[in-house]
Amino acid sequence: MSDQMRIAVLVSGGGTNLQALIDAQAERKIKNGFLCAVVSSKEDAFALSRARKAGIPEFILARKDYPISRQYDEALIRLLDKIGVDLVVLAGFMNVLGPDFCSKYKNRIINVHPSLIPSFCGDGFYGLRVHKAALSCGVKVTGATVHFVNEVTDGGAIILQKAVEVKDSDTPESLQMRVMKEAEWELLPKAVSLFCEGRLQIEDGHVRILE
Ligand code: GRF
Repeated sequence: MSDQMRIAVLVSGGGTNLQALIDAQAERKIKNGFLCAVVSSKEDAFALSRARKAGIPEFILARKDYPISRQYDEALIRLLDKIGVDLVVLAGFMNVLGPDFCSKYKNRIINVHPSLIPSFCGDGFYGLRVHKAALSCGVKVTGATVHFVNEVTDGGAIILQKAVEVKDSDTPESLQMRVMKEAEWELLPKAVSLFCEGRLQIEDGHVRILE
């Protein structure tokens, strides 16, 4: 197990994307890596129960205990140093990580965003807001994107994307659910496995997937 990549998943909420990773791991779909820690920025995140049930060490680093976001990032770096982490996965993590964190884990942080970047992304586009914006724009297709994280919100190199149909009858909630089911829960474990297998190569800000 020692040459396996150590994956830490950062969460704040329900943790359905974490569950997709847990399920993928149980089905041996994450090659060459394992979930070594779940870190929550909220004490009462349901994601923590999912981690416990799966026997993954859980940690709470409450965002509310750190008035300044830089202090939060520093505490997070200290915690992840202690745990020993090769890959950081943001799965419904509701905090923006600053430049210090991003440079420490350069090309080793992956996020899932519920739209086809560069649409409906960037500061202020999170949770249901993304789907509300897609519906008010009237797009016929939306989707999800898994990307590397850099200092620019949702601006890092794109790893995988999948399109999802928008229906006339959609509400932000129904669209969010379809995007999660059809795209996010599939793409995130896939991207994590590709990373752990060493198959993601970044060239000029673009990701190439090695065969
Ligand atoms: C998902 O749409 C994810 O893309 C976003 O937060 C939503 C809920 O995630 N960042 P989860 O159920 O906590 O994984």
